Amino acid sequence: MKARIFSGVQPSGNLHIGNYLGALKNWVEIQGDYESIFGIVDLHAVTVYQSPAELRAKILETAALFLAVGIDPRQSSIVVQSSVPEHSELAWMLTCVTPVGWLERMTQYKAKSQEQETIGDGLLQYPVLMAADILIYQAAIVPVGDDQAQHLELTRDIAQRFNSLYGETFVMPATHLPTVGSRVMGLDDPEKKMSKSATGSGHAIGLLDPPEQIRKKIMRATTDSQPQVDFDCLGAGVRNLIDISQAFMSWTSAESRTEFQGMRYGDLKKKVAEIVVSKVEPIQQRYREITSEPGYVDAVLAQGAERVSPIAKSTVRLVKERMGLYTAV
Ligand code: TRP
Repeated sequence: MKARIFSGVQPSGNLHIGNYLGALKNWVEIQGDYESIFGIVDLHAVTVYQSPAELRAKILETAALFLAVGIDPRQSSIVVQSSVPEHSELAWMLTCVTPVGWLERMTQYKAKSQEQETIGDGLLQYPVLMAADILIYQAAIVPVGDDQAQHLELTRDIAQRFNSLYGETFVMPATHLPTVGSRVMGLDDPEKKMSKSATGSGHAIGLLDPPEQIRKKIMRATTDSQPQVDFDCLGAGVRNLIDISQAFMSWTSAESRTEFQGMRYGDLKKKVAEIVVSKVEPIQQRYREITSEPGYVDAVLAQGAERVSPIAKSTVRLVKERMGLYTAV
């Protein structure tokens, strides 16, 4: 039997090449080796306010992009979190075994709560819901970026605490970090990880950005005052452009050195832009095909929910039994 994996993406902001190289590309490559479940975690998105119309559109856009990058709905289940109510149900049960102190220590909570005037309870509960996403499917492996590693540790802490209070119930999920080089930084600020909330600017390259815009953003990317690529002292901006190309082309470091060493920055950028455009265009083409077929994405999501629902139901039932909650006969 194949081991089960779960991972998720929030349907807020625009999916960008950092999401692709750091997560989606990896999912596509490993989906056949596991029983794969990929979530569009809309309940996480609403921990900060989302415009309802935009959120609705983004959920379908995200699902279509999953398909466009190569997630195969015959092999993998694509699931919208809110369409499987057991995620929320289990989250409550896990909340009851989670000390508030564990949640207040989360770095993402600390960062996000600083940006808010009033801190929604959901922002604090965010990692408990994430634990529920994983534990509801008894996932053995969770492929995530390193920024989510702390949430994964907390997931294991919650699972362990539950198991020790109520008896062995949950599988301990292992973290699966992507390979080195897939951490894509912002084009305008190579010290910061590329973020979803800023694709309009020169910060991120959206998977659905028109090719002309992609070229412009890359030509304007922050570099340094050296004239040409020198692998013995790469500035963060240049390194990022090289890493992006290397990841898209699946080159080794030696291959990318051969490609870029000694190249003037202007030529480097032109070359990187062509690489990115040549990889993103086929994704956009498939995206257009997928979204031009009425009802197709909804059908994939319905099928995904239907496939995983029995797993979620049986976990909730087990948890209820363990906790002494009422389970109808
Ligand atoms: N918190 C994750 C992120 O922002 C998204 C997420 C929610 C997730 N639930 C998950 C990732 C479960 C992996 C497993 O990237």
